Amino acid sequence: MCKKPHGIFLFLCLTVIQGSQIVLKKLEVDIGKNVTLRCPVDLTDVMWVKENRTDDDHARMKVFSNGTLFIMHVNIKDSGAYSCRRANVVESPIQGKVQVRVRSPPLPLNVTIKTSTVLAVVFWTVQGNGGYPIINFTAQYRLAYTNDSWLPISPNHITPNSRQVDVYNLRPNTTYEFRIWATNQLGRSPSVSVYGVTLDSYKETDLARHLLKGADQFDTRIWAAAVGVVMGTLVLLGIGTCILLYQECKTPTVEEEQEIIELVPNIILNPGFDDNQQNMPAPDENSNNEHPQRLNNNSVVQPQNV
Ligand SMILES: *[C@@H]1O[C@H](CO)[C@@H](O)[C@H](O)[C@H]1NC(C)=O
Ligand SMILES: *[C@@H]1O[C@H](CO)[C@@H](O)[C@H](O)[C@H]1NC(C)=O
Ligand SMILES: *[C@@H]1O[C@H](CO)[C@@H](O)[C@H](O)[C@H]1NC(C)=O
Repeated sequence: MCKKPHGIFLFLCLTVIQGSQIVLKKLEVDIGKNVTLRCPVDLTDVMWVKENRTDDDHARMKVFSNGTLFIMHVNIKDSGAYSCRRANVVESPIQGKVQVRVRSPPLPLNVTIKTSTVLAVVFWTVQGNGGYPIINFTAQYRLAYTNDSWLPISPNHITPNSRQVDVYNLRPNTTYEFRIWATNQLGRSPSVSVYGVTLDSYKETDLARHLLKGADQFDTRIWAAAVGVVMGTLVLLGIGTCILLYQECKTPTVEEEQEIIELVPNIILNPGFDDNQQNMPAPDENSNNEHPQRLNNNSVVQPQNV
């Protein structure tokens, strides 16, 4: 059961706590608004007490004669449970409670940074959206300890699901200041600044050396063997490639093939052309120079047709 009393920013929900006489009401209000709390139970004289009260600003609070509690320009600290009971009665029980939640811009982000020589990555986590969904994040950077104007980090409006953004084109060995904030429909969270030092190139070499640490204890013979295997493979690949290329060059082109075809009839027409073939039978029109052979009286071995 929800009502919308007094202001458009107030949403009252009534909840009856089972097994107790206390009637609980929940109320959400945007920061900076005025709010009027009405005791969920009708009482003639009302006394209001805020639970876990610290240092409330009583100048902003007032109880009207009809029993409503008025709080002017609410802030985050006004969030909490307000209980109401009958006034002017000794040890009167709490009869009603209003749980107030003040909605605000998002809380400051938790920000960390990682840098390399020319790149930085800004990471963040959300501590609270203030009661409304985050619309976007905005991040900026500049040289540290200067009053330079802030440079935008692309994209200007970082999507609400993002939790990191890259910053490119930084100078090595330089300290930068980065700041970032979140925005919801009530406004911007306080921006949080972090400093990051980009690595210099020397440190990067250092890093490489660190990665190779232990290389001096390494058995160089294993290296030599590994290099040998790799080189051997490369040489074999090279030879294979050469052979393939050579064969491709040797493959006759169409023109050369025609020449060969023209030459064949000449050789056939001049059977005596090759002296070494004088004793061999002349090839037939299919260039078959094999003839049937009689092995015995019954079987004749036929030459394979080409
Ligand atoms: C809140 O209440 C104060 C005092 O009654 C008034 O001056 C002010 O205009 C009110 N503000 C809003 C937003 O209603
Ligand atoms: C109580 O009184 C205040 C001030 O006179 C008024 O603004 C408010 O609407 C009243 N509330 C109820 C529930 O009568
Ligand atoms: C890095 O910066 C520091 C201080 O600004 C300087 O002393 C150092 O020489 C720089 N290193 C290199 C490699 O430029």
